[in-house]
Amino acid sequence: MDICVGSRRIVFRTERRVFKIPRFTRWVSFIRGINENLEERYWFSADGSRRRNPSQKWTVPQLAEIYWADRFGLLVVMERVDVAIRPASFQEDLRRLQDWAKEFSFAQDVNESNVGYRGTELVICDYGFFGGTRDCYIGT
Ligand SMILES: Nc1ncnc2c1ncn2[C@@H]1O[C@H](COP(=O)(O)OP(=O)(O)OP(=O)(O)O)[C@@H](O)[C@H]1O
Ligand SMILES: [Mg+2]
Repeated sequence: MDICVGSRRIVFRTERRVFKIPRFTRWVSFIRGINENLEERYWFSADGSRRRNPSQKWTVPQLAEIYWADRFGLLVVMERVDVAIRPASFQEDLRRLQDWAKEFSFAQDVNESNVGYRGTELVICDYGFFGGTRDCYIGT
């Protein structure tokens, strides 16, 4: 297992899954980490039913799959993707993803640090961003 520290969340990574919890070192990152976990959770329950019926297939291939997420925003369990490989097609793959994401609130956050490969397919693994209350209003 390894650990990645994002600006809002701490990510524990096992071979097949990652576990995202809010980063609790600062109040603002804790609150925004909860926000972002809840935003990602939307996709877990977006078509209504996966939460009630966990065996339902994941229907958004552009996003790393969420296996479970709690209603308090304390934990998201997500598929692990490969964020280290950058094949020759990377820029083209990224452009295509950015184009797909245009209509969503996380569009401006689709960049090199928030994407990874599932096999040969580039997917977004951080789609919690949504703007919202500015950090300075949350306080430190
Ligand atoms: N599904 C995943 N598979 C593999 N690595 C991941 C996955 N999700 C996140 N990571 C790694 O953990 C890092 C932090 O995760 P994430 O971007 O979700 O947190 P964050 O706090 O929202 O980050 P930031 O605000 O810094 O972008 C990512 O940059 C990535 O390297
Ligand atoms: Mg990120």
